[in-house]
Amino acid sequence: MDCNIGVISGDGIGPEIVAEAKKVLDRVGSKYGHKFNYTEILMGGCSIDATGVPLTDEAIETALNSDAVLMGSIGGNTATSPWYKLAPELRPEAGLLKLRKALNLFANLRPAYLYEELAAACPLRADIIGDGFDMMIMRELTGGLYFGARETKEVDGVMTATDTLTYNEEEIRRIAKRGFDIAMKRRKKVTSVDKANVLDSSRLWRMVVEEVATDYPEVKYEHMLVDNCAMQLVKDPKQFDVILTENMFGDILSDEASMVTGSIGMLSSASLNDTKFGLYEPSGGSAPDIAGKGIANPIATILSAAMMLRYSFDLDKEADAIEAAVKQVLKEGYRTIDIMPQPGESIEGITQVGTAQMGDLIAERV
Ligand code: IPM
Ligand code: MG
Repeated sequence: MDCNIGVISGDGIGPEIVAEAKKVLDRVGSKYGHKFNYTEILMGGCSIDATGVPLTDEAIETALNSDAVLMGSIGGNTATSPWYKLAPELRPEAGLLKLRKALNLFANLRPAYLYEELAAACPLRADIIGDGFDMMIMRELTGGLYFGARETKEVDGVMTATDTLTYNEEEIRRIAKRGFDIAMKRRKKVTSVDKANVLDSSRLWRMVVEEVATDYPEVKYEHMLVDNCAMQLVKDPKQFDVILTENMFGDILSDEASMVTGSIGMLSSASLNDTKFGLYEPSGGSAPDIAGKGIANPIATILSAAMMLRYSFDLDKEADAIEAAVKQVLKEGYRTIDIMPQPGESIEGITQVGTAQMGDLIAERV
């Protein structure tokens, strides 16, 4: 199979972790007889430096002409980087939001899974971890507060800022369907998360999700308020299978879920539209503090590449091979610094490795 992949290396640790994902993809290509062609796409701070804007129309065009896009991370230190002195619509993150909207990537899948080998990195008590957990956060990605009208102006001499949270029933229905479809392939449970005790948008959300649920009688389905969900994620993460939620809640809950698994450096994500196209990126950020040091964990990006093979190219066997290689490397005791045992814990059989070495080890085991 010939696959045309747009590659957004981005900023910070982005280029380092993307290089490792390409290394692993190329190994898959040679082993299984596929050709992965890469086209670089500028987005984020590097695009600002080169073109003055975080995402050019040509960059969107290149993404649109790709079969899928693999991304590292974008953005810099919001306190010190000159990018954050620019107008909000010219900052790195604006490029990502523009791309999500332009490609209609409304369905964001963020799996949070506890690797047995990394149970020690999980900050929860052993009795809470039990035999582990495995959930999928389904985050709506092109609506809500992120894309509503906003303004900051003086009202009666007082500076006043407004952000608008809008959802229509169609936007809710399509993400809900995706959530239930995915639940059907997993443990058949959906927890729809909202704030229906306060927000109109949440009350509509609940009504539409309830209606979609009737088409999936096999799926066990419940509503949960977002504040309760934040609590339940640390109290009893095992209860969750698919967590279905709107854009802003999903942003927050997915970071929380990732930390519950031990490290954000392990979590992949896929952003999908109605076609086979998808944008695949690690859930973590650009980590400017460790950029260029060769210590970033490339596993989330490598697992995102596996998701790309699965969802955009239907290469399930190849995706399985990458996931198994990651597990194998962990089993053999290789760790990047973020997933090293905590002080006081045994380091017997554990070897600390850098970004490129981790990529080599995984590629070798594909
Ligand atoms: C994420 C990130 C983005 C978001 C930022 C970089 C705009 O936090 O993908 O979770 O809020 O969606
Ligand atoms: Mg986020």
